[in-house]
Amino acid sequence: MRGRFITFEGLDGAGKSTQLDALAGVLQARGVPFVRTREPGGTPVGEQLRALMLGLNMTPLTETLLMFAARAEHVARVIAPALGRGEWVLCDRYIDASYAYQGAGRGVPADRLDRLSAWIGDALAGGTDPDLTVLVDIEPAEAERRRATARTADRFESEPVAFFSTVREAYLRRAAREPGRFLVVDGADATARIQAHVHARIQAWLP
Ligand code: TYD
Repeated sequence: MRGRFITFEGLDGAGKSTQLDALAGVLQARGVPFVRTREPGGTPVGEQLRALMLGLNMTPLTETLLMFAARAEHVARVIAPALGRGEWVLCDRYIDASYAYQGAGRGVPADRLDRLSAWIGDALAGGTDPDLTVLVDIEPAEAERRRATARTADRFESEPVAFFSTVREAYLRRAAREPGRFLVVDGADATARIQAHVHARIQAWLP
């Protein structure tokens, strides 16, 4: 049986990595085999592309194509094989991030992203869509406060609050359109509370 594909999305600073860690802990405790990975990245090629994208200025189209190039490699070499082996895949960001950041944030037309996504879909038997996408939603101003204390900003994190407001709205619109796939949690909630929501949602999938 194909494994479950779960992605985590949200603004930089929302706390999605903490939630991913928590779910990884649950799966480990239950003996569910899983792969933990991230985008952009997750493969040697993808990690090099990540360093380029986070560090160098480039046009929105270049950024989009590199993002999908990294994703093509990731799907073919990591995600699809793991799901095929029956392992779960927990992925820190995926295609939704491209619609939110490159689409809404940078103004790349959605139909271009649709076409690139369809290419990726060909590599992922059973479709491109995750079984569940956890959107850790947070106010852009709060996300910025958290980032300021936590780390040095990369090229995306240096964007103004207005950019993140646009990205957040795009995420929320996608979540509203696909309520069956998305679980929206409040990033301002206590970690344990958020974890409980995620756990409730995946409970039926656990052995
Ligand atoms: P992120 O998960 O935030 O890394 P970290 O938590 O280590 O800072 O991802 C890095 C950046 O990549 C993030 O600012 C959003 C951006 N990104 C896109 O713009 N489009 C995409 O499709 C993906 C996957 C990420």
